[in-house]
Amino acid sequence: MAILKIARMGHPILLQPACKINSPNALEVGRLIEDMIDTLEEVSGAGLAAPQVHASLRLVMFHVPNKKASIEDGETSEGCPFTVLINPRIEVVDNELIDGTEACLSLPGLAGIVPRYRRIRYTGWDHLGNAIDRTAHGYHARVVQHECDHLDGVLYPMRMKDLSTLTFTSEIFRKEVGV
Ligand code: NI
Repeated sequence: MAILKIARMGHPILLQPACKINSPNALEVGRLIEDMIDTLEEVSGAGLAAPQVHASLRLVMFHVPNKKASIEDGETSEGCPFTVLINPRIEVVDNELIDGTEACLSLPGLAGIVPRYRRIRYTGWDHLGNAIDRTAHGYHARVVQHECDHLDGVLYPMRMKDLSTLTFTSEIFRKEVGV
């Protein structure tokens, strides 16, 4: 078990396209996945991409609790169980873009409004070699698009249409509690 250091915006690895994983069963890939799981648990994040821990490989992991999905997308929306996704591909199912607030472990303390496709299909393999083929909408789709963007060297501010919405989360909290 190891908690890995997370690269922050400005580190060149975050702007670099990541490499395909040719041997998903390789011992070192398994070790990286275990360490990324430990790291994600430690920081209580929704998702993590390998380049964020200085490994330029096409590997992401994420989860969407049902409670978060229902807050973002309406009461009946379900989240997504914890998923490891290797060599993911995204297909846009619904071209409509919807705005939503995003944050990223590589930009600690910040959040901004980012347009994302409403509905996508994503495919890839999990850490046990099982094929994954899912459609996702709303917040689930947003998380997958955000994480997979990391594999192409894209950070969420690069997707923002209105940079005036880039905010320190401590300021959002101040506004909410009225201090
Ligand atoms: Ni991120």
